[in-house]
Amino acid sequence: MPKRKGAYQPPYSKHSFLVHGKFLSAKWDFEHHVVPPISSSSTYRLETAERGARGFCGFSEPRKHGRGEIFIYDRLDEPTRAMLEERLAFVEEGEAGVAFATGMAAIAAALGVTLRAGDEVLAHHALYGCTYSLLTNWMPRMGVSVRYLDFSRPGLLARSIGRHTRAALYETPVNPTLELIDIEAVSAACRKRKVISIVDNTFATPFCQRPLSRGADMVVHSLTKNICGFGTDMGGAVVTRRAFEGPLLLYRKDFGGALSPKNAWPILVYGLPSLELRLRKEEQNALEVARFLEGHPKVARVAYPGLESFPQRDLARRQMTDFDGTFAPSNMIYFVVRGGGRAASRLVNHCAKHAYTITLAVSLGQIRTLIEKPTGMTHSALPPAVRRAGHLSPGGVRVSVGIEDASDIIHDLREALKTC
Ligand SMILES: Cc1ncc(COP(=O)(O)O)c(C=O)c1O
Repeated sequence: MPKRKGAYQPPYSKHSFLVHGKFLSAKWDFEHHVVPPISSSSTYRLETAERGARGFCGFSEPRKHGRGEIFIYDRLDEPTRAMLEERLAFVEEGEAGVAFATGMAAIAAALGVTLRAGDEVLAHHALYGCTYSLLTNWMPRMGVSVRYLDFSRPGLLARSIGRHTRAALYETPVNPTLELIDIEAVSAACRKRKVISIVDNTFATPFCQRPLSRGADMVVHSLTKNICGFGTDMGGAVVTRRAFEGPLLLYRKDFGGALSPKNAWPILVYGLPSLELRLRKEEQNALEVARFLEGHPKVARVAYPGLESFPQRDLARRQMTDFDGTFAPSNMIYFVVRGGGRAASRLVNHCAKHAYTITLAVSLGQIRTLIEKPTGMTHSALPPAVRRAGHLSPGGVRVSVGIEDASDIIHDLREALKTC
């Protein structure tokens, strides 16, 4: 009989936890697996009607009955996805994680369990285009009103909370401008008025920032990005306190956006275990690339939280820290070229045609460097006035820095900038 491998316990680091998880998980018998298995069963044998009934009770009231002891049907709960959820909850310093098919499904669920007809949601005025579209085009149809304001002014936010305000949603760093929102200040303003604050932590990942530990109520993720890390799978997650776990599971059951175990598995086995390694390299590269851009005559401004010149430098250093407390500004850069929208288009088109290390594509957080022009692509759903309010410039370019050699990324950018 092989010696049983020990279970996770402090003082092992969070990084080791991302590689090994709990090891011996109630979700699965790990005795003989080195790599967590992909469970691929849409339904589960229940043996008796009584066991089936217990499974249904346990599922809808996980706080009372304990979650995952009896699996019933994939859309309700299943072990591979549940292991991923356990790991996400741990690194985000939350009590529960619920995974969805995409980041948008996770954001919709976080709002869905929080809001009812007649409620109002406040949102920061710059947001990922599809999140803006969800709030603007779909929420009003469900009787939820939306107001956009500048969350970088917590005083204004506090004054704007009204009788019907129930939730506040924002990204930090903001996609694509890299502006930061002070999580502690916003959480405090929301808590005073019993408003649920929801932070999209996709740009930072839990490696760079853990909003729940700063008072946020819910964290949402597009797992498709840095957490998956290789650009192979889509996914989303909500991490929060235990009280929201049951409603989120029920919402997922009824709206149906469950993450497939086949997509959960690569995120569990490749994405999370390599998160720290990838991000450390990407951060080193991003700093070099940002410094190069900052010194380039055709670039009007560069936003990267790791730069000395970053306007919210103090907040960045306070809020964006890795598991050891070291400053961790993540891998995203936004810069504005002097020639405006046409010059930005020429730059990304040049990359599409000629660059070796830079790919013109939306999405972010992969080992490959990706470039895009947000006003024409990811943020095209935002009307011009909203773009202006959110400081999105037609000449703006977003770069998701990968793990290539920094000098090669810089070479490709230098060549592309000649077209501006
Ligand atoms: C900040 C942010 N949140 C959410 C999403 C949506 O994620 P998904 O594409 O996985 O639905 C994205 C996608 O780009 C994003 O950038």
